[in-house]
Amino acid sequence: MGDMEARAEVDIWSYVFGYTKTAAVKCAIELGVADVIENHGSPMPLSQLAAALRYVPSRLQRIMRFLVHYQVFKEEPIGQHSMGFSLTPLSRRLIKHGEKTIVPFILLMSSPIMLGPWHSLSARVLQRGNISPFEAANGMDFWSYTEANPGHSKLFNDAMACKARLTISAIIKGCPEVFDGVQSLVDAGGGNGTAMSLLVKQFPRIRGINFDLPHVVVVAPKFGGIENVGGDMFMSIPNADAVFLMWILHDWDDEECIKILKKCREAIPEDKGKVIIVEAVLEEENKGDELEYVRLMLDMVMMTHTNKGKERSLKEWSYVLQESGFTRFNVKSIQGFESVIEVYP
Ligand SMILES: C[S@@+](CC[C@H](N)C(=O)[O-])C[C@H]1O[C@@H](n2cnc3c(N)ncnc32)[C@H](O)[C@@H]1O
Repeated sequence: MGDMEARAEVDIWSYVFGYTKTAAVKCAIELGVADVIENHGSPMPLSQLAAALRYVPSRLQRIMRFLVHYQVFKEEPIGQHSMGFSLTPLSRRLIKHGEKTIVPFILLMSSPIMLGPWHSLSARVLQRGNISPFEAANGMDFWSYTEANPGHSKLFNDAMACKARLTISAIIKGCPEVFDGVQSLVDAGGGNGTAMSLLVKQFPRIRGINFDLPHVVVVAPKFGGIENVGGDMFMSIPNADAVFLMWILHDWDDEECIKILKKCREAIPEDKGKVIIVEAVLEEENKGDELEYVRLMLDMVMMTHTNKGKERSLKEWSYVLQESGFTRFNVKSIQGFESVIEVYP
């Protein structure tokens, strides 16, 4: 068997059984494995881990063996005769209240509501209509479903907030200058206000407005110095020096993006205003960036969960920005798979 054949033999089975990885990680999250190991403070033997979790040792051993194989956890010697489980950079992201936790996002994406639509992806590619796989599976489009189901809305907003913490920290480290001179900022589609709370904490001179759909802001926590405003960004956006749009435009098609961007333009001053977009920028040709895989996965998520959303290349961003009447923009890289696009009237 040649090298490529041998690789294909492993890869094809990873497609057959691919979901086991997510399921095992979700199981570890639900059991609190990473939290218990973190609290223990040193490599933890299976017997102690099973006792702490009140879990059947033989079954826990199988889950842990699988996750150690994928380097989610690792096994280390304890003294000369026994072994214990400890955390890797990956499992540190599975600590529920960890600084870089991704737990709420995994719980969202692995929920039945978000998994069901994947079964209709081929129908989506075949059909000309506008029913998304999400709607085919759940009977309503994504935003109507979140409005009608407070439990799902909370799951979604918590997931967005956990991702927002990571991205805002990368922006503050990578390009804090995008907020220079900004005295007031509106986060349009700001969810529960997490991003704005972190920005105002870092730049206390900024007067922050967290703007989202009424059912989202009504349950948003109150952060000091931030005003929560409910509304529809297709109708109007509160006035400010700058509009922050993180993970908004990829939910919509070009025509809808142009409508939102025109509302942003109306909200900011012509002379010193700007729009700060945080999104993925797809490579126009393959440059071998490993993170491109994440961007392309996100594009599949947009196709499956939104009506017409998509990730965009620089050329596609340029098109929607120009059509919305903006004259210039620049793109800044930050750590991770997203970029910051500064856009000027
Ligand atoms: C993908 S989430 C991004 C949330 C946040 N910007 C972040 O990155 O964490 C999109 C947000 O847009 C909001 N949204 C959807 N339609 C909207 C509308 N018509 N007007 C205002 N907000 C809207 C949703 O409620 C949701 O909070």
